[in-house]
Amino acid sequence: MCGIVAYLGQKPARPILIEGLKRLEYRGYDSAGIALLAGNVISIKKTAGRISALEDILPRQETGEVLGIGHTRWATHGQPNTINAHPHIDYSGKIVVVHNGIIENYATLKTWLKKEGCTFSSDTDSEVIAALIGYFYEHGSTPDGDGPADGANRFEWAVQQTLREVVGTYGLAILCTDYPDMLIGAKKGSPLILGVGKSEFIIASDAAAIVEHTTQAIYLSDGEIVTITPKGFRTKTLANAPVTKELKEIEFSLEQIELAGCEHYMQKEINEQPESVRTCLQGRVDLQNARVVLGGLQPLLRELTRTKRIILSACGTAWHAGLVGEFLFEQLARIPAEVEYASEFRYRNPIIEDGTIVIAISQSGETADTLAAIEQAKERGARVLGIVNVVGSTIARTTDVGVYLRVGPEIGVASTKAFTAQVAVLAMMAIELGRRRHIASDYAGHLLEELMLIPDKIETILSLSDHIRQIAQANIDKENWLFLGRGFNYPVALEGALKLKEISYIHAEGLPAAEMKHGPIALITNQMPAVFIATQCSQYDKIIGNIEEVRSRGGQTIVVATEGDDHIAHYADHLITVPEAPEPLQPMLTVIPLQLLAYHAAVLRGHDVDKPRNLAKSVTVE
Ligand code: G6P
Repeated sequence: MCGIVAYLGQKPARPILIEGLKRLEYRGYDSAGIALLAGNVISIKKTAGRISALEDILPRQETGEVLGIGHTRWATHGQPNTINAHPHIDYSGKIVVVHNGIIENYATLKTWLKKEGCTFSSDTDSEVIAALIGYFYEHGSTPDGDGPADGANRFEWAVQQTLREVVGTYGLAILCTDYPDMLIGAKKGSPLILGVGKSEFIIASDAAAIVEHTTQAIYLSDGEIVTITPKGFRTKTLANAPVTKELKEIEFSLEQIELAGCEHYMQKEINEQPESVRTCLQGRVDLQNARVVLGGLQPLLRELTRTKRIILSACGTAWHAGLVGEFLFEQLARIPAEVEYASEFRYRNPIIEDGTIVIAISQSGETADTLAAIEQAKERGARVLGIVNVVGSTIARTTDVGVYLRVGPEIGVASTKAFTAQVAVLAMMAIELGRRRHIASDYAGHLLEELMLIPDKIETILSLSDHIRQIAQANIDKENWLFLGRGFNYPVALEGALKLKEISYIHAEGLPAAEMKHGPIALITNQMPAVFIATQCSQYDKIIGNIEEVRSRGGQTIVVATEGDDHIAHYADHLITVPEAPEPLQPMLTVIPLQLLAYHAAVLRGHDVDKPRNLAKSVTVE
């Protein structure tokens, strides 16, 4: 996790770093810091708390340095306090580092460095990187007696040697006081992009911190380092082999990452869903021929059509979309499918037979567990398909083929518009595979027509926002909630519960509605709202029975039902209606009121909706 940003150019670095860190704050926000270098003088400011707290401790006067590095942290090793905040400086005071990732062998390295006389001031794994670079730099040789080649840059060499010793993941930006016009970046397992502007360079974990300055960038690959000076940059491997990188256009604009009049990114992203789902479907659904054309899937389409088994792997909200995917593939394409938590899958010694296709789903394309699951699947011979939002992200590049969500940057930590697009992509795939395998083209055509109507229907649901806020208000003092759904709406119940937990800190459980009677029903009192998703579906009557079970025990019911269902009002203390849709497509509609419910509950409780405590948007550590 964590966000890093670094600048070398002609403008004052400080405001650029601060602005960049604010754009990356979704990646972590428990402490922050910057280091600025002018001549041989380094000045470091860091503090526990958010970027605003860092701004409070900066000198009023701009000091004009044109080279600097910055960091916003999501703590892994060591508490989120000022000492553990980045940048970290080595014991000699020359090497300064910001780091995103985890150094797994830091304890061994630290013990060794201590024996060599190095001292440490923090509890972090990251400080070890600064210390080891400092050690190699100072000694000019490794313990094996290897040193920099004649004419080699000693700072660059020390970084390369260090990164050959560390085990783990890193995105790094590094300064050395002896090189006042040099900045080094390096990457392995954590994202790192170099923005290339006119006479200026910006390293960042994410293009959001770059796009304001330039749209030209290079995406570093694992095991590469970049050395930047005012004259330009060069990229190399850790073994010092030059690497040629291609400049790429960053595909999103500044407007997409602005709040655009909304109070929160989450609110903006919920409201964007009619448009984001529309964009996701655009040009991919051929209504005339009842077909779906997903360009990125073409190389795998035959294999996918004949596959014997699909494994979907993801984390968090993307896992919930994957569960909808499991139902879609089984019901529409009749392909055995199962969704796996990426974090479990990778350690479970999974059985992957010939002909299994693994689908990795990830908004950020950087989630460490999902990445590791992909590697595991590939090692076992599976072909891997990615459903990813962030263009050029690690998962997008690691998978064999893929489909982009095309929803633009999602900044709110609680995922919303990525979920609806993930389900839209899975629905397109399942309908197309179904058509190729067994379903009549009339039915496929009908489903596709209905799919194209989803964006307008989401719009209708968004107009209920005030009504949903009132429901949140009426239940705002309740500390425990249940979310219950069946069939395609069971994953939505899980997602509704997750949204509420994440941002309002209310305890919530999502369950298949019928499971309630096997235990959770014991919890029902008038203090526990039960949210039922009871739209018109094959299990409608059964779910009415489940609602009755709650009501007869004094429970409060909030029911999401289909528009025009007059019968159900009788069972609901609060009723929210959504437009009709075929069952497999309903999750894209029924999730919207639950996103709004969680959003309003969090705002009413006075929480920072976009930066919920302890969370971060992109979990790049295991
Ligand atoms: C974090 C976020 C969740 C997200 C999950 C998976 O936990 O807080 O909102 O669903 O990671 O992220 P991904 O980027 O892989 O979809």
